[in-house]
Amino acid sequence: MSESDPQLSASANVETYQPTIAHITRADELTSTEMLLELQLDDGQVLGHAAGQFVQVSVFGVGEAPISVCSSPTQTGSFELCVRAAGNVTNALHRLEVGDWVGIRGPYGHGFPVEEMVRKDILIVAGGIGLPPLRPLINLVLENREQYGRLIIVYGARLPKELLFKDELDSWADRGDVELYVIVEQPDDDWPGPVGVVTVPLRDIDIEPAQTVVAAAVGPPVMYRFVAFELLGKNIAAENIYFSLERRMKCGVGKCGHCQLNNLYVCVDGPVFCYSDLQGLDEAVEAWAPPTAEAGGERQEPGKGHG
Ligand SMILES: Cc1cc2nc3c(=O)[nH]c(=O)nc-3n(C[C@H](O)[C@H](O)[C@H](O)COP(=O)(O)OP(=O)(O)OC[C@H]3O[C@@H](n4cnc5c(N)ncnc54)[C@H](O)[C@@H]3O)c2cc1C
Ligand code: FES
Repeated sequence: MSESDPQLSASANVETYQPTIAHITRADELTSTEMLLELQLDDGQVLGHAAGQFVQVSVFGVGEAPISVCSSPTQTGSFELCVRAAGNVTNALHRLEVGDWVGIRGPYGHGFPVEEMVRKDILIVAGGIGLPPLRPLINLVLENREQYGRLIIVYGARLPKELLFKDELDSWADRGDVELYVIVEQPDDDWPGPVGVVTVPLRDIDIEPAQTVVAAAVGPPVMYRFVAFELLGKNIAAENIYFSLERRMKCGVGKCGHCQLNNLYVCVDGPVFCYSDLQGLDEAVEAWAPPTAEAGGERQEPGKGHG
């Protein structure tokens, strides 16, 4: 195991559960519910994360929450977290200001298989708060653009005002080498784009299945189910589809069992899983997974008998 192996760093940190102090160096309101925090670890330490990994962030006296690192792994002097105000810890994070400090454990978990993506077409599917965990991967690909094939990004939000990283969406759209599809469910009068959910543009994108690796990090489980249905329908192999899962977590290092999914711990075995590894799991996953031909099932529209 190498020094940078996520499993190794997780087991090393579990010795103490002791967070490293990090100071907030920037705090930007992205939307009414999402804040982008830039942090620096004390003593100039480098976080050393991989695309798709998360950290356990603690606000002292309040608690701890897992948050995906949303900056590129090549950004080493600082790192970024996009935090949606959802409860005690995340609301406390929203109240912090530049100069305040938090505790950081990690980075933890397995990220996206970046090396396997080299020379492949990459299809990214993000829904809502699913974009931040994918942003490091997108940035890595953009930083080494010549090493990859097509970069197709499909991003959906409920409302136009809920779209994250709007400036970056504009800059990706302006590049000639990114195919960007942004869609909202409930448009306002100024929305110029398509209306619906991410599967709408996904359906019309022509891809070469054998050449395509898909990464998807979306929040609500129902979205994985719809996205998986479309991807399998495009003949993309389950082995080439990666989903980042969210489960409630406590320890983040495979000790407490809070994040258990059958025989897997999402915190150490994930959060990024190959879809083929999820298909064999029992009802916790099958509840949102579409049937497969191997399982003898007819492909069936989500919501029609597999809810
Ligand atoms: C691997 C991973 C990466 C994540 N990345 C991000 C991120 O980049 N940005 C971000 O804003 N959030 C992220 N989350 C979700 C975030 O961890 C939760 O919103 C947070 O833990 C809530 O903590 P809290 O103390 O603010 O809320 P609490 O006061 O604990 O709870 C608020 C509400 O949220 C529910 N809740 C708590 N945790 C979860 C969860 N994991 N899934 C669903 N419901 C939950 C509670 O039951 C309650 O209803 C991630 C979660 C995981 C597991
Ligand atoms: S959060 Fe404790 S085992 Fe995963």
